[in-house]
Amino acid sequence: MSQNQSVTWQDFFRLLVTAASNTDLYSPQHPQVSRLVGKALELIRSLMGTDTKIDIMLIDQNIILGKSPLPATLHTIRFVEALKNRGIEHLSLRGEINQGELLQLILLLAKRQQPPQSPLNSTNLRFGSIDMSRIGQGKGAAGVKQASTESDLLHCERDRLAEICSGAGKKRSLSVAGLKEIVTHFLHALDQELDPLLAIFPLHQQDKYSFTHSTNVCLLTLAHARRLGLKGPLLHDIGIAALLHDMGKLFLPVDIINKPGKPTDEEWQMIRLHPVRGAEYLVGIAGVPQLAVVTAYEHHMKYDLTGYPAVKKDWQQHLCSHMTTIADIFDALRTKRSYREAMDASKVRQMLSDLSGQELHPELCSTFLQMIDEVTIPPSVAKTP
Ligand SMILES: [Fe+2]
Ligand SMILES: [Fe+2]
Repeated sequence: MSQNQSVTWQDFFRLLVTAASNTDLYSPQHPQVSRLVGKALELIRSLMGTDTKIDIMLIDQNIILGKSPLPATLHTIRFVEALKNRGIEHLSLRGEINQGELLQLILLLAKRQQPPQSPLNSTNLRFGSIDMSRIGQGKGAAGVKQASTESDLLHCERDRLAEICSGAGKKRSLSVAGLKEIVTHFLHALDQELDPLLAIFPLHQQDKYSFTHSTNVCLLTLAHARRLGLKGPLLHDIGIAALLHDMGKLFLPVDIINKPGKPTDEEWQMIRLHPVRGAEYLVGIAGVPQLAVVTAYEHHMKYDLTGYPAVKKDWQQHLCSHMTTIADIFDALRTKRSYREAMDASKVRQMLSDLSGQELHPELCSTFLQMIDEVTIPPSVAKTP
């Protein structure tokens, strides 16, 4: 398989997984899902060319197409995991596959949908199942269900954000409506029994993507803002601002963002420009709240203004920028990076307290840490007054 073909196949699986996430967020009938199914259908038809059938094997975390392994991506891994959880370890797909059959496959990838117990074979889509009784052995069923539900929340939003941002950049076509839906979904989740803040912790184990960071910062900042009593349109604007705080990183070369170890002086100069780049980009997009432009510009400024970009001594930062900075640092330290392990929660807590009053707004840092303590310290260990 040529490198180009691999990339196109990866794109096909990305579309399926993203469509499944959108199915979870909205419904299988949502126009966003139909658009992704249409794109996936177009792609698979061009990939199949004159071939009548392709066998897809799922081995460990990998996809084997015919006899060639496909280089793994976040989306191919999720494709494999989702199908294996349904007891499927191989499938064959015919070039004549239609929209309905592709949607059936997507429903199997979706986590909140209820597909039939065993996948149904159709003319152009056939599944090979493994013994379902093996699934879930060795783990407490309730525990598995809970972990999956919690981290699904952020997976869905991250994929949705990635999809929205893939249309951004030069075309200046950021879907503000899509961003509002993510924020509304987070706010809704915060009202539910399931505590989405807890979902952030298991997710860090595997994920290094900027979109996860942005959705984490959004959720943390929203939860913080709600604790402070903020509500209504301001709360929604804060959510969008936090979600877009690192938008300027889209204009940085990916190898600089993912570089293990210290950036060179030249790379560091480029990194320091991302707040300005982000603000410049967002200011030109209709429907993006002004607060998002301000937050993108100010989120590395620090409380004592020793950060970047450099501003006059009497610069007054917005409350939302201070909150985003705190969530940003917290999430960055809690994330596993290629050059260091995720920092232990108590260490992160200590670091944030040390920065309070200097780099971080003291009162906001204190309310943020109180919130984190409440969700991370199990009730049995929490001190009673
Ligand atoms: Fe940033
Ligand atoms: Fe950030």
